[in-house]
Amino acid sequence: METKITEISGGIYRLSTFVPQIAPPAGFTFNQFLVLGDDPLLFHTGLRQMFPLIHSAISRLIPPGRLRWITFGHYEADECGAMNEWLAVSPQAEVAHGQTSCLVSLNDMADRTPRVLQDGEAIDLGKGKRVRYLDTPHIPHGWDAGVLYEEMTGTLMCGDLFTQVGDGPALTETDVVGPAIAAEDMFQYSSLNPGMGATIRRLAKLAPHTLALMHGPSFTGDAAAALCALADDYDRRLRAALTDSKFAAGGTAAA
Ligand SMILES: [Fe+2]
Ligand SMILES: [Fe+2]
Repeated sequence: METKITEISGGIYRLSTFVPQIAPPAGFTFNQFLVLGDDPLLFHTGLRQMFPLIHSAISRLIPPGRLRWITFGHYEADECGAMNEWLAVSPQAEVAHGQTSCLVSLNDMADRTPRVLQDGEAIDLGKGKRVRYLDTPHIPHGWDAGVLYEEMTGTLMCGDLFTQVGDGPALTETDVVGPAIAAEDMFQYSSLNPGMGATIRRLAKLAPHTLALMHGPSFTGDAAAALCALADDYDRRLRAALTDSKFAAGGTAAA
């Protein structure tokens, strides 16, 4: 396995590892994002077993001991499996996440006390970089789910949103909604819930310049339109689920 490194917007690097054994024959990528500033931030740690690989990749960009912030979409192995390995090699690093993640998982699971971020709270990374944390509970999955928006570059690190299979280019201007719909059909990885459409449309209001996908290429172009189209598809799925005869009013799941 190799980890490819690409600068997707000014000072934001995508580290991408392709695993052909997952979701064959297309395979699957795992991406981390390093945001450079006076205080470098890593969004997604990579799987615990991938730590030597990702550590070696980060070393090509900065001394790993310089990491100041570690954050991720939600508490799950591919998002934060190597969290404690990073805390061990980066003495100044703090894990930062929303209140739910800290209370439900990180206060216990992280080797150092995490920094709690309120919904909408920003961290100044220096050199003009500023990241804003936004709660997106259960979207696409995980009670503690959230995304991170880097304001200077307009880069939305959107975690598992828009997940797709395959090993595409690092950066694309082509459609990311169709492949995301296909992956949802394949994996059914999202927790369908009534707040999905409104929450994703709230992200569209940021009018991001770039969407940094955890599993797929980064997208530049009309990101707000892509987010609205994804929100529409989740609304469609929710309506379909609610009209399913097993769950319709008056029915029971056991019927
Ligand atoms: Fe996930
Ligand atoms: Fe993920």
